[in-house]
Amino acid sequence: MTDRARHEWWQTAVIYQIYPRSFKDTTGNGVGDLAGIIDRLSYLADTLGVDAIWLSPFYPSPMADFGYDVSDYRDVHPLFGDLATFDRLVARAHDAGLKIVIDFVPNHTSDQHPWFIESRSSRDNPRRDWYVWRDPKPDGSPPNNWLSVFGGSAWEFDEHTGQYYLHSFLREQPDLNWRNPELRAAMLDNMRFWLDRGVDGFRVDAVHFMMKDPAERDNPPNTDLGLFAHKPMGAYDAQLHRYDKGHDDLHGVFRDMRAVLATYDPPRMSLGEIHIYDPVELASYYGTDLDELSMPTNFGLFKAPWTAEGVRAVVDGLEAAVPAGGWPNYSLGNHDDRRLASRLGEAGSRQAAVLLLGLRGAPILYYGDELGLREVEIPPDRLQDPWSRAAPHLGRDGCRTPMPWSPEPGAGFTAAGEPWLPLGDDHRTRNVQMQLADPDSLLNLYRRLLQLRRTSGPLRLGSYRPLDAVPAHCLAFVRELGAERALVALNFSAAPVTIDLPTPGGRIVVSTQRTHEGSDVGRTLRLAPHEAVIVA
Ligand code: NOJ
Repeated sequence: MTDRARHEWWQTAVIYQIYPRSFKDTTGNGVGDLAGIIDRLSYLADTLGVDAIWLSPFYPSPMADFGYDVSDYRDVHPLFGDLATFDRLVARAHDAGLKIVIDFVPNHTSDQHPWFIESRSSRDNPRRDWYVWRDPKPDGSPPNNWLSVFGGSAWEFDEHTGQYYLHSFLREQPDLNWRNPELRAAMLDNMRFWLDRGVDGFRVDAVHFMMKDPAERDNPPNTDLGLFAHKPMGAYDAQLHRYDKGHDDLHGVFRDMRAVLATYDPPRMSLGEIHIYDPVELASYYGTDLDELSMPTNFGLFKAPWTAEGVRAVVDGLEAAVPAGGWPNYSLGNHDDRRLASRLGEAGSRQAAVLLLGLRGAPILYYGDELGLREVEIPPDRLQDPWSRAAPHLGRDGCRTPMPWSPEPGAGFTAAGEPWLPLGDDHRTRNVQMQLADPDSLLNLYRRLLQLRRTSGPLRLGSYRPLDAVPAHCLAFVRELGAERALVALNFSAAPVTIDLPTPGGRIVVSTQRTHEGSDVGRTLRLAPHEAVIVA
């Protein structure tokens, strides 16, 4: 296809996030593994029809934060397999036409990583400066007021050497010091290790934390709690996180990373995790010469009210801010947030599918959202996530439960009696097998949308133009590529609406209400309550 030649792969790709522990268990221990992902490649490439998979961490790890505490950047945790299995996964995925994106965790290691064990062994250890060690204040208290995302101070006192180390997340996740040139070089080499094995890109964890204020000033208090209303994080919200992350020196780090990715042919991708809701600030991380992150993640739709105005404000804001040649991205689910279907409900899940696959930019889908998986209520004795211990409402286990493939016990996920997290109560009816058999299922809606996106130039690469003259509670936009166009329209209200079209004609190709598909559209487009359609 000609456009493939002129665009980077991630500009035409739909990315699907897999939480490896929960996708498919082939060993019968109740935990998913890499062989399980190989087993399901045909589901991903052929049945569903995505273009790339992003794997959450599978590295050796004590699992204090379920793999986001890496103890070896160059291996696979035996729970998930080994390097040979990983190589097989890359080869088979590529054979199936899928790109492989892996999570890379540069801000911190595990406290069991050999670097940290060395670093904490003495003040004059050559690796001391690879982490952030500081003297206590004269009264013995931590060097400043910075807080850990997961609760409490971000500083942990080390009796043995009499200094504090910094941890922006758990105390088992000490922050690396990216200002140290040797550390920086070692981490870039760790990226090369995986690029040389054929990975097509990285989702880069918590990148915004990698550079802090060099003067390490106290954070100011936050007087506007509304700032975090979409996800209140307790004491952490009591500060404005001005100095503990987001220092301008990040740009240099991102340029170094991009330079590594650019040495490969074709260039590899970085999707950097950044929670910034000001699109202009977010867009600065593409780099003035598009030489920083390939894409900073955009979480705007998580925060937006699920209304026509709310969604449009996010999309228009991002469209205006992303530099020419930069590429937006959108997601509505991941391993850190409440399940999409629990936030938006049944009708909202269906609209979200049309929206995500209709927008300009890379759609990022979270495993199981194509089935409308709900947040699962986890009994207290089965909670796993450390965050749920600090603050129960922040626990992330409910969105990390096993993928239900079929109605049998274990849901086709595992042959073990008990998976590592419980399956949702509805797994006997909400699973891949049964949804494939139901033409009106959410899964089949996703399949039709993915199929359409694959074959539609305007949906993959066309421009974005919102329509202003639409009734209240409606969002409609046109995607245009040369003479071809597609129209995406969503009705957020519980009443039918009629939209006058600037350019009449076309056919409803995909609708949240399947029986409307194939209808010709004239000068007006009629949408049923909560309906979303693509007209082409
Ligand atoms: C963001 C990841 O998505 C989350 O799961 C993790 O706990 C933190 N970063 C720390 O690595």
